Amino acid sequence: MKSIVILISGRGSNMDAIIDAELPLEIRAVISNRPLATGLKSAAQRGFPAIALDHKAFATREEFDTELSRVINQFAPDYIVLAGFMRILSAGFIARYPNRIINIHPSLLPALPGLHTHEEALKAGLKIHGATVHFVTPELDHGPIIIQATVPVLPADTPATLGERVLAAEHKIYPQALRWLATDRLELSASGVVRIQHLDVLETDKTTTLCVLKE
Ligand code: GAR
Repeated sequence: MKSIVILISGRGSNMDAIIDAELPLEIRAVISNRPLATGLKSAAQRGFPAIALDHKAFATREEFDTELSRVINQFAPDYIVLAGFMRILSAGFIARYPNRIINIHPSLLPALPGLHTHEEALKAGLKIHGATVHFVTPELDHGPIIIQATVPVLPADTPATLGERVLAAEHKIYPQALRWLATDRLELSASGVVRIQHLDVLETDKTTTLCVLKE
């Protein structure tokens, strides 16, 4: 079975969704750069090694990233799963784990990288918004896309209501992406395009468009 370490910074609802999905993946540890992250408490309560590594205790990004690598490597995971991890990782860190870091971002990348995506979506008058799970490359919020979910932008939306709808979609697509990873269904081409093996059904519900596997 493949193994992961999950990195968080806050409430950890994506982490909870991943745990709840009971994927064929061993979750070896949860690490937070914010010691008071509520997700860290939740991980510990659920019986996972939960480690706080306060980025503020390090003088530079590189020093923090070096220590982060040391802690992660103790668990020897196949993949590092960023679930609301709000620190930019240095190019040096990313180079240590080629095609082994996965992230979720609350927009339809490559649109709206960075922070405050729901405010930006409303400001730009987008009619469709969403979330993306992707492999991490040194360029922030880029990298081969594994799955996306779309969410309609409704006339009365505020950043909060839109964000809630996107988050609900995130909780569906992150476990799905990791299930594909766990079961060796993801193929990353040399040109950086992800293909999903045995994917031949598209299913939609009211708020999201999801690719699902025909078993
Ligand atoms: C999620 O919306 C995730 O997409 C976003 O932070 C939130 C974390 O929520 N991540 C980023 O913006 C990364 N650039 P959670 O802690 O409840 O999973």
